[in-house]
Amino acid sequence: MEFDVFTLLPEVFFPYLNSSILERARQRSLIEVRVHNIRDWASTKHHVTDDEPYGGGGGMVMKVEPVFAAVESVLGPKTNIPVILLTPQGRVFNQKIAQELVQQPRLALICGRYEGVDERIRQHLVTDEISIGDYVLTGGELPALILIDAISRLISGVLGDPDGAMNDSHSSGLLEYPHYTRPPEFRGWGVPEILLSGDHAKIEKWRREQSLRRTLKRRPDLLENARLSESDLKNLKKIQDEGENS
Ligand code: ADE
Repeated sequence: MEFDVFTLLPEVFFPYLNSSILERARQRSLIEVRVHNIRDWASTKHHVTDDEPYGGGGGMVMKVEPVFAAVESVLGPKTNIPVILLTPQGRVFNQKIAQELVQQPRLALICGRYEGVDERIRQHLVTDEISIGDYVLTGGELPALILIDAISRLISGVLGDPDGAMNDSHSSGLLEYPHYTRPPEFRGWGVPEILLSGDHAKIEKWRREQSLRRTLKRRPDLLENARLSESDLKNLKKIQDEGENS
């Protein structure tokens, strides 16, 4: 999968892209991330990429020409590559959107800076707008990295474990069960016996129930869209009844 990132801060991407799982994915050509500096397409002598807003008011606005020039010269004039603007005004990113976007062979990501971008970029260049949550950052660079990370780990081979992304919190619509590793006891705190039993069927059952319990307690809103079996529904009822009787 290919990502073309358009930013005024290209340097912030490399420490993260050159680490751990994403670095390995890039080395193995499972993903390719090209980071383009919008400033390189600013035609003025001083490579100006922002200007004062028409109508006055505070802050600066990202100019339309350098962004169009950058995106069009990298993607070509007519393309069906999604062009995503990272902005707090976009649809809120989640696992479902990551799964939708991983179907694309190539994505363009535009990182907004300053107070905002000239509206004509939104209207005539961008095909999708994504926010990573209801808070405002200084720019779209961290959000772009978050998209790249969440999408890349869904690509087959990126995680060492072939089922790696399958049991994730959110992939089935439920939160993940609790994890433990050695030692079996730390400061008197043990590990649930069942995990040491070697009985895989029982362990699976316990994990599913823990996922249901956690989701019910922490994010009951997720249950509405989760993929639940008959036995999950029975279990949920049992857990809910326990709560009411305690
Ligand atoms: N740029 C600034 N804040 C943002 C957010 N929450 N999501 C995406 N892009 C942003």
